[in-house]
Amino acid sequence: MSSATHASTQFPKNVLIVGAGGREHTLVKAVLASPARPRVIAAPGNAGIAAEVPTFPVAADNIPGLVALVQNEKIDFVIVGPEVPLSLGLVDALAAINVPAYGPKADGARLEASKVFTKQILLKYGIPTAASGIFTEVEPALAYIRQRGAPIVIKADGLAAGKGVIVAQTLAEAEAAVHDMLAGNKFGSAGSQILVEDCMFGEETSILVVTSGRDYIILPTSQDHKRIGDGDTGPNTGGMGTYSPADVVTPALLAQIEREIVKPSVNAIADEGIDFRGTLFIGIMLTADGPSVLEYNTRFGDPETQVVIPRLDTDVLALLWAAAQGTLAGIRFAIKPDHALCVVIAAKGYPDAYPKGDVITFPAPLPANVHIIHAGTATNASGQVVTAGGRVLGVTATAPTLRAAADSAYAVCEQIQCVTKVYRRDIGAKQLNRK
Ligand code: GLY
Repeated sequence: MSSATHASTQFPKNVLIVGAGGREHTLVKAVLASPARPRVIAAPGNAGIAAEVPTFPVAADNIPGLVALVQNEKIDFVIVGPEVPLSLGLVDALAAINVPAYGPKADGARLEASKVFTKQILLKYGIPTAASGIFTEVEPALAYIRQRGAPIVIKADGLAAGKGVIVAQTLAEAEAAVHDMLAGNKFGSAGSQILVEDCMFGEETSILVVTSGRDYIILPTSQDHKRIGDGDTGPNTGGMGTYSPADVVTPALLAQIEREIVKPSVNAIADEGIDFRGTLFIGIMLTADGPSVLEYNTRFGDPETQVVIPRLDTDVLALLWAAAQGTLAGIRFAIKPDHALCVVIAAKGYPDAYPKGDVITFPAPLPANVHIIHAGTATNASGQVVTAGGRVLGVTATAPTLRAAADSAYAVCEQIQCVTKVYRRDIGAKQLNRK
């Protein structure tokens, strides 16, 4: 670790968690559970986070505001949840004031902020990924699409809040997506360059890797449900539910993923001169020809975090601190045998327009194995918890079997009252129905 950038090596006593979603609520709970009993604050947080720790109304993309908050509150460790502050250089700005942070600097965050950059690294280091073309002009992109055929995937290069990937089933859909991004400016500058990629078939898995540069720890496997509707129908979302472990990733397959994807990725990033200390979240398609990289993200997944973190039999603060300090190699790390499952409750209309301000009422008491994780929630003037985002809550259960975890989570979903609540009824079904 470089003492030039990170002056403090004392175990942190004052921790700031940046973000406002279910991922950050889960991280708040985990850090509060640390035996070190740190003081924890969050910015900007949500109603659930605010019920547990002090929150400050500084937006996650307000880098000067967050730096000022760190200084005012004498914070000695920052855990950055979302990708936007990472790509805007929050960790660089904190390093400049000698405050350690968990999460990559802007050069590492580019692995999520530019799909073209990632594709170039994957190709350069021979890491399995789909064939693709890179385009800034409509006509060459259309010619490539006609040559490759449908289905085909169109990806905006930059950050587009999970909406910049179109899996086009027909040439007409693909052509419309190209026009929307390159000519119609649908995603602004994020879509001024696109990747056109062969469609891969199989089950997806999310592999979250905590890394301090060359050392890494692979967190428990999980599977997300990206489409809004049951049976993987309808538009893509940020994620409508998860479960862990994903048994489709057998021990032999995980060993192959580590050998062919995780280790080469971590080494490639280091070889490119990027000092990556944070979560490398690798989206992987399990194709008939073997595992293949869909994308890198440079932060914890949401809602993957909600099922992966509760399965760690580890001091999460110590784990993230060790990664930030470059001392991951010595960390104690263990996984609980329980299964975990998270059902996301969204506001009707999401991922398009949805109402806000609907009152939510919660069942009480909750079963000991269920936690209601807040995402898009706020508190209104009367002190009631109301909807304030598209993904509103994540009902997370742990149990000795996936079936029991699903039953526990869904029983609580039924009891939560909110006029606009919608959720998928089939989270975990692929695994539960697998022979
Ligand atoms: N659940 C997918 C993501 O966090 O990007």
